[in-house]
Amino acid sequence: MMATKHIAVIVGSLRKDSLNRKMAKALAALQPPSLQLEIVEIGQLQMYNQDLDETPPREWIDFRNKILSCEGVIFVTPEYNRSVPAALKNAIDVGSRPYGKSVWNGKPAAVMSVSPGAIGGFGANHHLRQSLVFLNMPILQQPEAYIGGADKLFDASGAINNDRSREFLKGFVTSYATWVERFPEAGQR
Ligand code: FNR
Repeated sequence: MMATKHIAVIVGSLRKDSLNRKMAKALAALQPPSLQLEIVEIGQLQMYNQDLDETPPREWIDFRNKILSCEGVIFVTPEYNRSVPAALKNAIDVGSRPYGKSVWNGKPAAVMSVSPGAIGGFGANHHLRQSLVFLNMPILQQPEAYIGGADKLFDASGAINNDRSREFLKGFVTSYATWVERFPEAGQR
């Protein structure tokens, strides 16, 4: 029996009715038994300022500890101006410091971008990957997930409204579960 892996899901949008948040919940509904997905909030994190790291805010400490306790991270993000929203970049920066103590180090990651637009947030997806390479996060390569037309993907209850998309998302989260198994040292529970 495989032990359940705790996976942080970071949603790049702070919006109440966020399509990305709906997607994060849809992924959790499709997760295989080997994974336990949990949304880790980022909207409460003060804007990163290196001066604050002398006495880090409680929110930063809690966030860093939460990521440390997880065995992987799935990023589900909108694209803002062909890049990553500031709130998500801030969370990445907060988790990466103090120098030498990055909580991201070695955690297996997956990236999904979600947009109502046709390009599916490709620019944000790959800008995010640039940071994750530097942070030494092994990133799931395939399947790639640029989710376009996302405003037409959910029913009124927030569930995925068609079988084809549901199968794709299930394949994505299942591939990630297999990926995570390759990094047994990634958790610090
Ligand atoms: C956007 N949006 C957007 N969409 C896109 O596909 N590429 C882009 O570069 C941008 N740029 C952008 C900038 C800013 C500041 C905002 C507020 C929006 C539209 C965006 O995809 C749309 O608002 C999504 O619904 C945002 O995701 P959530 O909040 O629904 O998860």
